[in-house]
Amino acid sequence: MRRYLLGASALAGALTALAVWAGSGDEPPSLTVMGETVGPAAIELGREVYAESCASCHGAELEGQPDWRRRLESGRMPAPPHDETGHTWHHADGQLFTITKQGVGAVVPGYESDMPVFEGILSDEEIIAVLAYIKSTWPERERAFQAEVTANAEEGS
Ligand code: HEC
Repeated sequence: MRRYLLGASALAGALTALAVWAGSGDEPPSLTVMGETVGPAAIELGREVYAESCASCHGAELEGQPDWRRRLESGRMPAPPHDETGHTWHHADGQLFTITKQGVGAVVPGYESDMPVFEGILSDEEIIAVLAYIKSTWPERERAFQAEVTANAEEGS
């Protein structure tokens, strides 16, 4: 019964989201990355960049590597999901950009990671596009949380 109720409220939530979506016209909502508005065309570019450069580790559906919380035998961490089950949405835009461009070591000095450095491989525009694509897949709650983290990070710097 409890499960049934939960299912019903999740369905109601999905229907509300659909209604909001339908109300905003056919275009998917645009969003901002590092203060720049990113429209549907750039989000589409981001989807392609993701499939080519990120999906092999972070998963075609952004689901991450299997058992991603458990350290590999190498002592390094597997690639986490980029969907709402991971922790990408806990980080401000600037940090996500730096990690993608310069690697995790740029944020946590000395940290050894399998996350590649994309500087010289992807342009800043492509990095912004791929982050926008990742953000476009998050439910409203995670997106709002991450927007707040980003706003606070900007205030602090
Ligand atoms: C070769 C595998 C690999 C590829 C390809 C890869 N990543 Fe990663 N990524 C990782 C790993 C492993 C981590 C976990 C870092 C750690 O804790 O050591 C990570 C972490 C991250 C993080 C921090 C996530 C968080 O939740 O804290 C971001 C952001 C990220 N990757 C973005 C990207 C983007 C964007 C692409 C494509 C342009 C990409 N990655 C491609 C392996 C990869």
